[in-house]
Amino acid sequence: MSKRIAVVGATGAVGAEMISALIRRRFPVGEIRLLASRRSAGRKLDFNETRIAVEALREDAIPDVDIALFSAGGAISKKFAPLFAKKGCVVIDNSSAWRMDPDVPLVVPEVNPQDARKHKGIIANPNCSTIQMVHALKPIYDEAGIRRIVVATYQSVSGAGWSAIMELESQTRDVLDGMPTKPQKFPHQIAFNCIPHIGPFLENGYTEEEMKMVDETRKILGDDTITVSATAVRVPVVRGHGEAVNVQTAKKLTAARAREILAATPNIVVLDDPANALYPLQTTATDDDRTFVGRIREDISTECGLDMWIVSDNLLKGAATNAVQIAELLL
Ligand code: A2P
Repeated sequence: MSKRIAVVGATGAVGAEMISALIRRRFPVGEIRLLASRRSAGRKLDFNETRIAVEALREDAIPDVDIALFSAGGAISKKFAPLFAKKGCVVIDNSSAWRMDPDVPLVVPEVNPQDARKHKGIIANPNCSTIQMVHALKPIYDEAGIRRIVVATYQSVSGAGWSAIMELESQTRDVLDGMPTKPQKFPHQIAFNCIPHIGPFLENGYTEEEMKMVDETRKILGDDTITVSATAVRVPVVRGHGEAVNVQTAKKLTAARAREILAATPNIVVLDDPANALYPLQTTATDDDRTFVGRIREDISTECGLDMWIVSDNLLKGAATNAVQIAELLL
């Protein structure tokens, strides 16, 4: 039952992790095609024991594959995903291009696997910050209902690609050497700084990144009555997103019961022993496919509220792992 797979954006930060996730999770790959821009054509990448030449993505040479994992940006997805789908392939797209399209399922396999079956050739992988949040909130939603979520994110630079990682590294060196910094990928210096600005600002004062968390959370949980207010912040960390989440439930849920149901949820790890300084860190989640939750406590300001701290590797559960898990649902 092996599948012919394409990775579009194979040379990128997420693309590299998609290739690793296929290998690590022993996905039954019959044939693999690695695609990127013309700049990377001919470059060789490893897949298991084989060296595979990267091909330039071209409209007139769409490969014959069963599943294509896309992570080359929204514009490429908008143009190429339908061309791949038209050839009978299922596209799993990591960009935001198709996420809110009513004909495109938006899937976190631990949350709404049933939606994957409704695809018409394209399945969207949610935004990294949304994936880890809904992964942790689904058992709470099932147990006690959710009325409102207030979240602040602490997002690493790798969400913005390789060039963003290089920018953090070079700026950190520049600052330590007493040199001026030259922000390119981010609107301000990211070294030794936090920037409350991810994606363009919208008319309502929120950023696009923040509104993705609002819209995608409702679509994945299938509940438009949930209200969400998000503040998305870029922090000088290479890998892993942290989230301070306050959730107002419909029924009272104790912190002890929340810990119990979270610990029983697939691919969730509860690390919650503050007396011993045990809570998830970005370094805890790095290179791990799972979502980590800690600092679970009852909100002292309201009757039915919980606070918690959720961390996951944005390149893995927030992107590549979730995409490969969706592919696994198609087997
Ligand atoms: P390339 O490396 O050839 O530029 P990241 O998010 O880390 O910046 O990676 C983006 C990915 O998207 C890379 O694999 C990049 O390839 C790919 N990409 C960018 N532009 C195009 C394009 N026009 N056609 C195909 N792939 C593209």
